[in-house]
Amino acid sequence: SIPIYTTVAAYREWRRRAFEERRTVGFVPTMGALHEGHISLVKRSLAENDLTVVSIFVNPAQFAPHEDLATYPRTLPQDLEKLSMQSYVVSDPESTGASTIRKPSAVFLPSVSEMYPSGISQDTAEQKGTFVEVKGYSHQMEGKTRPTFFRGVATVVTKLFNAIEPTNAYFGQKDIQQGLLLRRLARDLLLSHPDHEHIHIVPTARDPSDELALSSRNAYLTADGRRVAATLREALQAAEAAWLQGFAKSECVEKALQVVESRKSRASAEGLHVELRLDYVELNNADDFEVVDPQTTKNEMESRPVILSGALWVDKTRLIDNIILGEA
Ligand code: PAJ
Repeated sequence: SIPIYTTVAAYREWRRRAFEERRTVGFVPTMGALHEGHISLVKRSLAENDLTVVSIFVNPAQFAPHEDLATYPRTLPQDLEKLSMQSYVVSDPESTGASTIRKPSAVFLPSVSEMYPSGISQDTAEQKGTFVEVKGYSHQMEGKTRPTFFRGVATVVTKLFNAIEPTNAYFGQKDIQQGLLLRRLARDLLLSHPDHEHIHIVPTARDPSDELALSSRNAYLTADGRRVAATLREALQAAEAAWLQGFAKSECVEKALQVVESRKSRASAEGLHVELRLDYVELNNADDFEVVDPQTTKNEMESRPVILSGALWVDKTRLIDNIILGEA
């Protein structure tokens, strides 16, 4: 079974040996409830590093007081089982027939007090201690309705990077703003473990049946909710198609809204017990996250990448997804 480190001190002994042996360390931070999306990051890390560390920590600072911290899915035994099943075969460069098998090397499983020595309240007004803010990049898109979310993410990931000292770190495109913001953080704070070029963003893993983005929060969906959960994906694809055909942003967003409305009508016609409520569909520049003007078309963006993203409430579950238009 995979060694589990619950304290930074114990982990650091392991890390020191890896430094001495000049082995590269790939890092996959997670909040557990692992699914194939997380596993795709682990696979990338196994392929690109000598050693791979996965952290499992449900970070209180990124949940607002009204959000789902207490009910967030916790499935540690299954998570450890899934991780122990991962392996990557490295064929021998001298082709003597010998090959080595890489498996996840360590799981970092800290307590809340280990990660927050000064304590942590979900209420920002009551917080004490040290926090990291990526100003100018935390209030758009996912930050709009979750104003302290990225402060919580930036803070915990800074701590994790300081503790783990990875060579490379892996994040999912599913949370594109998070990945790009962390690259910005690494650059601004002059991080060397890892620097911004060693923060990798891995394509979103999807359910093959309907392309729903895999998410730990999908576990909250009812059977009826699951049947319409891919509505956001379909809405974003309609907007993408319009964008690629040269329609203005406002028209692309309109196409997405139409898809949501038609799925709502269909669900009620089929007698499904589910409430669909679109939070937003938006197009933002990938470099500064600013909203694209309504009349802008693909041609005016030239080669600058745009993030088409959205959030959809399926009953009380908030699902997110995105498509990158152009290279990010
Ligand atoms: P969590 O939601 O557990 O996700 C951990 C990593 O898995 C993130 O980088 C996320 O983008 C990636 N991921 C989730 N679903 C994915 C999918 N369908 N395809 C590809 N990658 C996917 O994101 C967090 O945790 C936290 O904010 C964290 C970075 C751990 C800080 O607390």
